[in-house]
Amino acid sequence: MEVRKAVLPVAGWGTRFLPATKAMPKEMFPVIDKPVIQFIVEECLEAGIDNIIFVTGRHKRPIEHHFDINTDLEKHLEQCGKTTLLKNIMEISRLVNPIYIRQKEQLGLGHAVLVAEPTVGYEPFIVCLGDVIVKDEDNVLSKMMEVYRRFGKSVIAVFEVEEKEVSKYGIVDCRHIEKDIYIIDDLVEKPKPEEAPSRLAIVGRYLFTPKIFDKLKVTPPGKGGEIQLTDAVKLLLEEEAVYAIKINSRVYDTGTPMGYLQTMIEFALQREDLREGLIRYMRSLMIEPTGV
Ligand code: G1P
Repeated sequence: MEVRKAVLPVAGWGTRFLPATKAMPKEMFPVIDKPVIQFIVEECLEAGIDNIIFVTGRHKRPIEHHFDINTDLEKHLEQCGKTTLLKNIMEISRLVNPIYIRQKEQLGLGHAVLVAEPTVGYEPFIVCLGDVIVKDEDNVLSKMMEVYRRFGKSVIAVFEVEEKEVSKYGIVDCRHIEKDIYIIDDLVEKPKPEEAPSRLAIVGRYLFTPKIFDKLKVTPPGKGGEIQLTDAVKLLLEEEAVYAIKINSRVYDTGTPMGYLQTMIEFALQREDLREGLIRYMRSLMIEPTGV
């Protein structure tokens, strides 16, 4: 069965960014002039997936507005002759078919995915974390879908991290089968470096068979008292194979202040209209430290 839907869990509090996230979802933070969540939706669209299920919370309304058609704004841009901006604004709201479902209590990532079950139904689906931007020449979701087409089983994207970074991620224990494809033996959520089975970390892109829902229903709270997606995958392994695909993409975790800052700087350096000015400014800071 073809993969047609993507679940984007976006209900988290964004505590690492308070007070900024008190009224504004962290997924709506701009990377220069585009909100983080739009990069992720565009990644799904590029892979041919337009049914996007957002698992939201009560403070996440701006996400709904962002993917809606704003006729007043469109009329205004048209009257001003701002055609490029108009095209930009129109496109995203027309290409995506958004479905919003509430996670009434924030009980963890695994719970958020389970909340999406009625909208997914019994079919394979993708999960993309709402604060991770993946930059690659090839679309990572398309690559994952290819692996799924071959093996008919769940696929998790992983990337290599430094040893000191392992405690920030879900880490997989896996066997290499070919090129960038591995078969997973075990997973552990945010291990201490000395307990990590490898340095292959879960990126935040998953493709699941619907069996994951059965496992999520019986997954007890794990790390941090939350129902962890990683723990449900561990249970899934008892019943069917789960593959990992190693990607060499640049992974931007915009969910922490440092990660967000790095994302902004790197994206600005890639923009012709900003690059030169930014370099000049940063050089000036380094030559004449401002003391801040
Ligand atoms: C989540 C997952 C973790 C994964 C990470 C990727 O953790 O639980 O397995 O490696 O996303 O960013 P979070 O960063 O939401 O705590």
